[in-house]
Amino acid sequence: MSEKMAELKNDRFLRALLREPVDCTPVWMMRQAGRYLPEYRETRAQAGDFMSLCKNPKLACEVTLQPLERYDLDAAILFSDILTIPDAMGLGLYFEAGEGPRFKKILRTAEDVDALPVPDIKRDLDYVIAAVREIRSALAGRVPLIGFSGSPWTLATYMVEGGSSKDFRHIKEMMYARPEVMHALLGKLADAVTLYLNEQILAGAQAVQIFDTWGGALSGPMYREFSLAYMKRIVEGLIRENEGRRVPAILFTKNGGQWLESMADTGADALGLDWTTDIGEARRRVGDRVALQGNMDPSVLYAPAGRIRSEVAAILESFGPGNGHVFNLGHGIHQFVDPESAGVFVDAVHELSVAYHD
Ligand code: CP3
Repeated sequence: MSEKMAELKNDRFLRALLREPVDCTPVWMMRQAGRYLPEYRETRAQAGDFMSLCKNPKLACEVTLQPLERYDLDAAILFSDILTIPDAMGLGLYFEAGEGPRFKKILRTAEDVDALPVPDIKRDLDYVIAAVREIRSALAGRVPLIGFSGSPWTLATYMVEGGSSKDFRHIKEMMYARPEVMHALLGKLADAVTLYLNEQILAGAQAVQIFDTWGGALSGPMYREFSLAYMKRIVEGLIRENEGRRVPAILFTKNGGQWLESMADTGADALGLDWTTDIGEARRRVGDRVALQGNMDPSVLYAPAGRIRSEVAAILESFGPGNGHVFNLGHGIHQFVDPESAGVFVDAVHELSVAYHD
């Protein structure tokens, strides 16, 4: 880095990812900046729409910091979206109210895949890199900043289906009937994701997470061939040390609990868990090879404070004493959650976890 960065005042999150001792269990929430916060809705209205918010580094920085003003979180996550990469590859991302993400251009044929450019990150995703710089500077060492990307498989599902999907009809047809086309697409995406995450790291991201939201829609052998292999390639291509510190990599495959041993083989430092896997059992399976991140059902946040605290307590008890746990929800926080409940959750993690650390 050219400019000297402020010293990190709270490094619990980075320490836990490397299974180093901490005073209490660090916590952050997937989708912590988002629609459940009234201040987010206000900034978004100011920006116009969601993509204009992502493309404005000052406003992206503002919403990244909003949850940190409210809660005692141990990490910030870059405000952006996983679909910036397909957008930069020329697919034309847009959001239809109530329908989720859509693309103007859909990939279906070998010719479509051949014609797809690997994006020039500094040119086509400069707004993301500018946001990372802006956020690092505004954080002034308060907590570490997480960069992220979608996994090649998850990005490909949106690019081939043209948006969200329930049955993955088109991409599974491509995978089973034309596997060579599928591999060509995933290879390009793996190259793009590696370049993208490395630019985020060089701009100041202190850890990175790969979101594989849809890897769990595959059978074991298909998961290994079409999702995990490409995430491994990315992990192997990442810059692992910057500013004199290791940059941990977290892999999160939603519904991937049965494949944790294979996920640990990628060289990732930590694995994200959704709530369908028992975290204590997951810990026994992966041993000291990786840290674990998770895994409370985000719907618990609809319950009263006492119930939120008892769910937090149960997860801490299941993981047990010792190092290597980053507390999180098992997926993104829901938009209808009361912001106060998120505060109850964060405080419960810090308070109740002290007993599990020396
Ligand atoms: O965690 C954070 O706070 C960082 C921001 C972040 C967003 N999206 C902001 C966002 C992150 C890490 C993502 C990742 C993302 N985006 C994933 C992977 C994680 C996951 O949830 O499984 C996926 C699959 C997407 C694609 C995407 N973007 C979807 C399905 C949607 C929801 C569409 C809808 O209307 O519900 C988005 C939009 C989006 N990304 C929002 C936010 C805050 C809501 C947009 C809005 O303000 O209307």
